[in-house]
This record gives sequence, structure tokens and C-alpha cells, in this order.
Amino acid sequence: MDIIERFEEQGQGQVFQHWDSLSEEEKSNLVSQAEEIDLDELKQLIDTLVLGGGSHDDIDFDSLKPFPFEPLPTDAASKARWDAARERGETILRQGKVAAFTVAGGQGTRLGYNGPKGTFPVTPINKKTLFQVFAEKIQAARKQYECRLPWYIMTSDINHEATVSFFEESEFFGLDSETVSFFRQGRMPAVGFDGKIILETKSSIAMSPDGHGGSLRALERSGALDEMEKGGVEIISYFQVDNPLVQAIDPAFIGFHAESGSSMSSKMLPKAYEKEKLGHFCELHGKLVVVEYSDMPDELTSRRDADGKLEFLAGSIAIHLVSTAFVRKLTARDSAFGLPFHKAEKKIPHLSTSGETVKPDEPNGIKFEMFVFDSLPFAENPIVMETTRLGDFSPVKNAEGVDSPATSEADQQRLFAQWLKAAGLEITTDTGGNPDRRIEISPLFAVSEGQFIEKVRTQSLDIPDSGDIFIE
Ligand code: UTP
Repeated sequence: MDIIERFEEQGQGQVFQHWDSLSEEEKSNLVSQAEEIDLDELKQLIDTLVLGGGSHDDIDFDSLKPFPFEPLPTDAASKARWDAARERGETILRQGKVAAFTVAGGQGTRLGYNGPKGTFPVTPINKKTLFQVFAEKIQAARKQYECRLPWYIMTSDINHEATVSFFEESEFFGLDSETVSFFRQGRMPAVGFDGKIILETKSSIAMSPDGHGGSLRALERSGALDEMEKGGVEIISYFQVDNPLVQAIDPAFIGFHAESGSSMSSKMLPKAYEKEKLGHFCELHGKLVVVEYSDMPDELTSRRDADGKLEFLAGSIAIHLVSTAFVRKLTARDSAFGLPFHKAEKKIPHLSTSGETVKPDEPNGIKFEMFVFDSLPFAENPIVMETTRLGDFSPVKNAEGVDSPATSEADQQRLFAQWLKAAGLEITTDTGGNPDRRIEISPLFAVSEGQFIEKVRTQSLDIPDSGDIFIE
């Protein structure tokens, strides 16, 4: 069989070592997995990243500079700029040129939750799931800007069916099901440190999602990009599934992006401390790049300017706007800009010599992933815009400790307490801004402080004297 020969020629014949003992169904599953693999691409990755020991991450650190960003408004002039950007963004939204895009194909291993991460309950009182929070934010934007605002969700083989069923059971949280689309991202095989593809069972290869960077080619391959273009969408609002505080649709961000003619824009947070685990927005040879925290030398992460401010201040929080034309260009068959793969050493369940699947205690191989921010160097006129932590970022990554359900819930409460105070409502908080009662404000009521203040001005709120405060 042709495919077996091709694998043998590449020194990967072990993939078919149990061929003769497989049933017809198992054979066909194995072949269809094998056909997903681009052997030339894989060989090149193995030669460079695995056997060559090299890395695509070799960076010319001497040439690295901080990338300038649009700071939050502080005075009348900058406030006027932000207001103008917001108005421009609102017009673009009303014209129906924006789609929401959630990448939800990850494995969520650190959270250790059994199910797609988007089905994890996150809000302080009602325990709404991540997907419901985004659905309500999108619903609110549709209402406010009277636009269709389609929502695309990227899944992976691991969670596709479970994700779609969850939406069906939840009746799409009130959204018209025709405006919500799901598509799967691509997969890559895992290889051992010897460069050999790992089998998970006798009839299946250890395959895993190809990283959030795989979202761009999945948008194209799935037909989602065609659909967006046909529907007049020009800007994709990209966010990750694990961040309930994200402004899924942010008119000011859209306005700045459009004003600069940017093909890909990003939000940044000033790092809270030198070694905070955020990628750094940097300029390298005139291009915008994100350098991962683990790759930045200490000398650079801690370097300060004359005022004592961190020079490499801008941390990446994985919130982007990407133009559809840019995705088209990046993913064109003859495109010169393929995203690089990164390698990660992982514990990969594999077939033992006795024929069982075993989970190793130590990393036993390598997975390959693409990162979405690797497309930034190809972007024209990219902008980086500052945001606030409570206004945009509190991810649920780990089961406990930093970036966990507990920290995210506390951040949501702090944010809602801020809104109540800003609207002149009474709420007691400690010095860290933590309220003494549980608060939850539904995105269907307000998605920003400004909107909350406006709503409170025009409609009376029934806030109980004690106990939980839930506003919907
Ligand atoms: P993370 O890098 O935090 O990975 O993904 P993860 O899979 O959610 O969690 P761990 O590392 O296994 O604990 C950041 C975002 O990118 C998406 C995730 O779903 C999350 O929204 N992602 C990641 C994908 O969509 N596909 C991937 O292949 C990887």
C-alpha cells in the first residue's frame, strides 16, 4: 500500500508495525490518521527541532527593542482620541464588518477539568460557563450595534462533539444557531526524542491539536474564511476560551485597528512584575514580535529606563483583531509566510511493548504547535493597545493558585464592585477592592463600566441591603 511505503521511506514504518493484526476498521482509521500527516513538513521539523536540537526561537536579542503601544487615556487630548476610536469602531460594528472568534481547541490539561474548557462554570453567583459569558457579551453587542455579528468557535478532535452538543443542549444561549459556527483545527503527530512518530494504540497515532496558531489555517481550510468574506466581515475579534473578563467586542480597539490600517492588532497589559509570565511585545528589525517570557533573558526583562519603569513593559494577553484579508494572504497556497512550529516536551500516552497504552511520568516525546502571535511580524501597520487587567484579563488556566477559578472569580467581583461604585451605588470593599458580598452583573445588563453607569442612570435597580447582588 502506497501510504505504508511512504512512511517506510521516511523511516516511520513503525506506525504500521501492527498492521497485520488490525481489523479492517482499525486499518482504515490508522490510514486516515496517517493521511493527515504532511510527511515532508514533519521531516523538516524532526531534522531541525528534534534531531538537530535547533530551535526556531533563536533570537537576535541585541537588536530587540520595546514595541510602542497606544497607552490608556490620561488627559483631555488622549481621551478625545479614544472617544474618536470608539465611535469609529461602533460604526464598523453597525456596518456588520466584525465577527467574534473563540479559540477553544486546547486540551486544558492544567485545569484538569473533564470536558471542553468553555463548559467550565466561572461566574461568582450563577456559575455561568465560559461559553455562556461570551454568548451574552456577543448578544449584547448584537443588540447595541444592531448587527449580525457571527460567532466562530474553533474546536479540536478532542472536544468538537462535546462542544457542539453543549451549545445544542443550552439552545445556543438564545443566539440564533445559524449565527454560531464550529470548526476543527488541524492536528500534528507527536514524536519521540529519536524523531519516530509515537503510536498511542496499535491502530492510532498520538495526535494533538496544532496550537492556537493553527487557527489561521483552520479558518481557511474549514471554509469559515470564505463564509466571513461573503458575509462582509473584514475584522475578526480573536480571543481565548479561558478568559471570562475579555471584552469580546471592543469598539475602541476596532477603531484604533481600522485607523492605522492594521492587519493584526493586539492588546497589552503593563507587566505587574519583572518576571510575570506574559510574552513581551518587542520590535525586531522593524517588525512586531512577541518573545515568550521563557525566552527573554533576565537582563532584558528587568531592564529599566531613567524613570525606573520596565523597558520591556508590554505583556501579551492573547487578544487580537485580525483582518480577513490578512488571514487570506497568510494562508494562500503560494504564501511565503508559513507560521513556524514550536516544540514542547510532553508526557505522551504511548503503546508499550506489551501492547497496552501507558501514561508516562516523565516527558517522553515532543509535540509541535504553532502560536498565533507568530503572524505579527507579517502584519502591516500592527498596533498594540493598552488595556486594564480587570477590564480584559483574568484567565482560568490552573486548578489552583495563579490564574485559577478562584482568582478569576475574585477579579470578576472586584470589577463589578468598581462598576457599582462608579455608578454611585453603595458597596463596601476592602483595601484591595474586594467586596464584602458576592456580586455578579450579567453582560446582558452591561458589558462595560460606561454602559453600567448609563443603565443605572435610566433604570432603577433593586439592590438588596445584604446578601448576594445579582444584576441581569
Ligand atoms: P493554552 O496554551 O492555555 O492551552 O491555550 P490549553 O490547552 O487551554 O491548556 P493546557 O496548556 O493544556 O493546560 C490558550 C488558548 O488557546 C487555545 C485554548 O483552547 C485556549 O483558548 N488553543 C490552544 C487552541 O485552540 N488550540 C490549541 O492547539 C492550543
